[in-house]
Amino acid sequence: MTRIQELPKVELHVHIEGTLEPELVLELARDAGIDLPYRDAESLRGRYVFSNLQSFLDIYYENMAVLRRRHDFGRLAYEYARRAHAGGVVHAEVFFDPQAHRIRGVPVTDVVSGLTDGFDRARSEFGFTAELIACFLRDRPVAEAIATLDELTACEAPILGVGLDSAEVGYPASLFAEVFDRAGALGLRRVAHAGEEGGPESIRMAMDTLAVERVDHGIRSVDDPALVAELAADSVPLTVCPLSNVRLQAVTDLASHPLPDLLAAGAHVTINSDDPAYFGGYADDNFAAVAETFDLDDATLARLAHNSVSASFLSAERKEQVHARIDHWLEAAAD
Ligand code: ADE
Ligand code: ZN
Repeated sequence: MTRIQELPKVELHVHIEGTLEPELVLELARDAGIDLPYRDAESLRGRYVFSNLQSFLDIYYENMAVLRRRHDFGRLAYEYARRAHAGGVVHAEVFFDPQAHRIRGVPVTDVVSGLTDGFDRARSEFGFTAELIACFLRDRPVAEAIATLDELTACEAPILGVGLDSAEVGYPASLFAEVFDRAGALGLRRVAHAGEEGGPESIRMAMDTLAVERVDHGIRSVDDPALVAELAADSVPLTVCPLSNVRLQAVTDLASHPLPDLLAAGAHVTINSDDPAYFGGYADDNFAAVAETFDLDDATLARLAHNSVSASFLSAERKEQVHARIDHWLEAAAD
């Protein structure tokens, strides 16, 4: 286990469907008798060369065809928890895309109960905890998002909050103000992707029209120093996903990632994996990549881990416990 894997951390930006590794795609396809045009996992992985967000989303949605039964979702959740836990993640607030399954005829109850089965097993076997955040797809009709929220409510799905993902450019957050209002009235937490491919105005719009408590990605805030200052002053967390940004060409390479500028400006940055099966790394891999590229010291890594705990929706008591474990890691590192 590396020292970065030993650093306790919370993951706040991971799409469970983005943890579907090629090996599991093939296994589930075989079980279901689905014919796939790939010989093996490596040939599927070989397709994971992306020029932008949309080129990734096309394959991401296509691969979801193998997720059909409650059991498949249970497997997916458990495998993610196992891998994340090995990298030091103690708790995750996990996105899922109910609409992407619902439009394929998979009942939302099977999706939610399957994910819950997998995470319950992870909790009892190794103490990993997870909460679910249902994301609305911003490139699908708003009415469908509302119907999905109604369905989640009707089946009393154990979700912590709602989010907003999929194609950002051309689909302003303001379209989803009503469904986010309804979610807020139900007591659900609110987060949204913004500033991944869209500019600072997309981030402002998500904050102003959706009352979000965290901004997912948010890296393009660097283009508007007044916005970064506001995010820092208001302690609005940014769930940054460095390897994702490189693979989707949101940045030219990791060395040009705005992470150091965001940190220097006092932004409440957290480090996450987004879609680890597609982007070449889980949370610990993202920590290791930025540590190496930017030569981050242990205190900065501990600060990033601390931020992830503070930005989570965990209880004050659990936050204190994980913060203390991070402080302990830092003290041990100094010995
Ligand atoms: N859905 C899964 N991954 C995503 C990302 N990086 N941005 C927007 N929507 C997504
Ligand atoms: Zn994402």
